Amino acid sequence: MSPRRETLPPSEPVRTEPPPPENSPAREASPPGSPSRILAPEAEPVEMAEEVGLRPRRLAEFVGQAQVKNHLSILLEAARRREQAADHLLFAGPPGLGKTSLAGIVATEMGVGLRITSGPALLRGGDLAAILSDLREGDVLFIDEVHRLGRAVEEVLYPAMEDFQLDIVIGKGPTARSIRLDLPRFTLVAATTRTGLMTGPLRDRFGLVARLDYYDPSELEAIVSRAARILGVDIDQAGAAEIARRSRGTPRIANRLLRRVRDFAEVRGNGRVTLDSAAQGLALFGVDDLGLDKVDRAILEALCRRFSGRPVGLSTLAVCVGEEPETVEDVYEPFLLQQGLLMRTARGRVATPAAWAHLGLTAPPEVPTLFGQVGH
Ligand SMILES: Nc1ncnc2c1ncn2[C@@H]1O[C@H](COP(=O)(O)OP(=O)(O)O)[C@@H](O)[C@H]1O
Ligand SMILES: [Mg+2]
Repeated sequence: MSPRRETLPPSEPVRTEPPPPENSPAREASPPGSPSRILAPEAEPVEMAEEVGLRPRRLAEFVGQAQVKNHLSILLEAARRREQAADHLLFAGPPGLGKTSLAGIVATEMGVGLRITSGPALLRGGDLAAILSDLREGDVLFIDEVHRLGRAVEEVLYPAMEDFQLDIVIGKGPTARSIRLDLPRFTLVAATTRTGLMTGPLRDRFGLVARLDYYDPSELEAIVSRAARILGVDIDQAGAAEIARRSRGTPRIANRLLRRVRDFAEVRGNGRVTLDSAAQGLALFGVDDLGLDKVDRAILEALCRRFSGRPVGLSTLAVCVGEEPETVEDVYEPFLLQQGLLMRTARGRVATPAAWAHLGLTAPPEVPTLFGQVGH
């Protein structure tokens, strides 16, 4: 296969864009861009367009995640040398860490076309079959939220991934017969916030499963500076560091906070983003010192005040904060766990002493320490 250079333009009609994230009741309650949702890791519909310009296109522009980048660059280079499509890739991790960006990067680095769809958008096996049979040699097919693929669609995907073949049933009833079509060799890039919800056989069919972790403040600072350059925002190093520090380890949030702080600096100051204007702007938007969201804080408040430090089950906790259990588990808990503010124990969720301190409360003496942590 010789790499094709004409990557599909973004407006290509055959593309299927992933649907906007589902609205939970709490999400509908606050209008887009409202201070209470400013730390939501998911992109809002208007924001998706803005993100396109900030998305890194090449591996070299992708900041952080050194190990993932290393694996990927070797894998892609090897595929290029063999003039073959790269192995199927799975990117896992919380929203806003760069999974969709990496799918685009894989296509760009391989010089091939990119088709985008998502688990929930593929309702029947036929939906996937139509996309697969339209792929060209070497293309990247990106399936977002792959853990939400239906069983029937997965059945179509297995032979396609493994043998690049498509089984199609023609006709109905006793005269129905199945024919096998050869597909071009393509690369499936899939993204998920929940590897745990994927079936084993599906997970096993990926050549590389890469977990994306939360970014550290210096990486986020580099991301903020890069975005500021692209957007033409006048920002100094301390301003970028302050935004980075309060971005919940998440590039999407860092870029959003940069835009909001820029607005604040333009309206209330001379347009320059400094430590001062960043701190003032972020305080106005209700972003706390650890970068915690209103929902993050509500979770900790429920554990400490309402349940006085007793272990709480996931569904009870979710009801308390008005979110879906999956949202609490996929979006909020991973960061609170990583920050050492929350623990999952066999009996339920518990706030750590650090969480009590962050809320300005005194922990009761029996609050367990991190040594008692069970699971992740
Ligand atoms: N490593 C990175 N370097 C620079 N910008 C990034 C990086 N990861 C994510 N971003 C920014 O964050 C935004 C959201 O990333 P995205 O790939 O859509 O995340 P996900 O698909 O995991 O939710 C992108 O538009 C991009 O601007
Ligand atoms: Mg995405």
